[in-house]
Amino acid sequence: MSGFVEKPEPVQVPGLVHLHTGKVRDLYRDGDGRLVMVASDRMSAYDWVLPTGIPDKGRILTQLSLWWFDRLTDLVANHVLSTEPPAGAPADWAGRTLVCRSLDMLPVECVARGYLTGSGLAEYEQTRTVCGLALPEGLVDGSELPSPIFTPAAKAEVGEHDENVSYEEVARQVGAETAAELRQATLAVYDRAREIARDRGIVLADTKFEFGRDPSDGGRLYLADEVLTPDSSRFWPADQWTPGRRQPSFDKQYVRDWLASPASGWDRHGGTPPPPLPDDVVAQTRARYVEAYERLTLTRWQ
Ligand SMILES: Nc1ncnc2c1ncn2[C@@H]1O[C@H](COP(=O)(O)OP(=O)(O)O)[C@@H](O)[C@H]1O
Ligand SMILES: [Mg+2]
Repeated sequence: MSGFVEKPEPVQVPGLVHLHTGKVRDLYRDGDGRLVMVASDRMSAYDWVLPTGIPDKGRILTQLSLWWFDRLTDLVANHVLSTEPPAGAPADWAGRTLVCRSLDMLPVECVARGYLTGSGLAEYEQTRTVCGLALPEGLVDGSELPSPIFTPAAKAEVGEHDENVSYEEVARQVGAETAAELRQATLAVYDRAREIARDRGIVLADTKFEFGRDPSDGGRLYLADEVLTPDSSRFWPADQWTPGRRQPSFDKQYVRDWLASPASGWDRHGGTPPPPLPDDVVAQTRARYVEAYERLTLTRWQ
């Protein structure tokens, strides 16, 4: 079992239709047919949405995505239309709201990897491949790959695991032309972001993008969702990068480690919901999100 420990009730705003409660974001449609995407402070780990939020997380993810979108506009169009919360929205939507093009999302998690870890490492250890792509012998946890690779995954429902799939499987699902377009855009954006992160002493090990098409714009491809945040990416401090072990990171690894430790008292294979996070775990996790924001954007978090 998995999913929400406590599923939040959607906020009702006059003029907005609630569409969906995602793991982190609440989606609405406004009177002009635009998508209103509101990032909450919710945190997910081990396929659960935890009962404890991380203060400021939603605003950090939103502001960091906007910062990146600005640096990618020459590579791919993005879905952002406005950052102005709709009239009548709660005051705390400021800074966490994106008004976006409502896209037909492509059912592919577009992952780029420049380094081997996580589910990529697990597959490599079995078969010396990742998503069916052959890799050289001798790679270990944290190794840099000879060149970045596109390793798509099938998008799962809340509470389910995303599943790595081959490029051929993606091509079968969305068509060869779209698959090629997704791979090209994913790797181009990853390359750009990796350079920018590297200049700031951060290794962008891997990251996930979602793309969609706008039917009202000739089916043009847009980069959607969040981009290059600690929720969608692995960021490692470059000065501590040491292949052959798990790398320290600016993401939810801290929470995952606590949940997996005896301190949490939780058996993640036992089918019971995870417990609330203690204050110090919340504070440490928040500090990592803030640090990722500050180190990347070179600005102080508020
Ligand atoms: N421009 C867009 N048009 C339609 N759907 C979008 C757009 N951008 C993002 N989405 C979808 O909005 C949802 C974002 O909410 P989130 O909480 O991150 O969901 P998830 O639980 O799927 O990660 C995702 O399902 C994503 O595919
Ligand atoms: Mg998401």
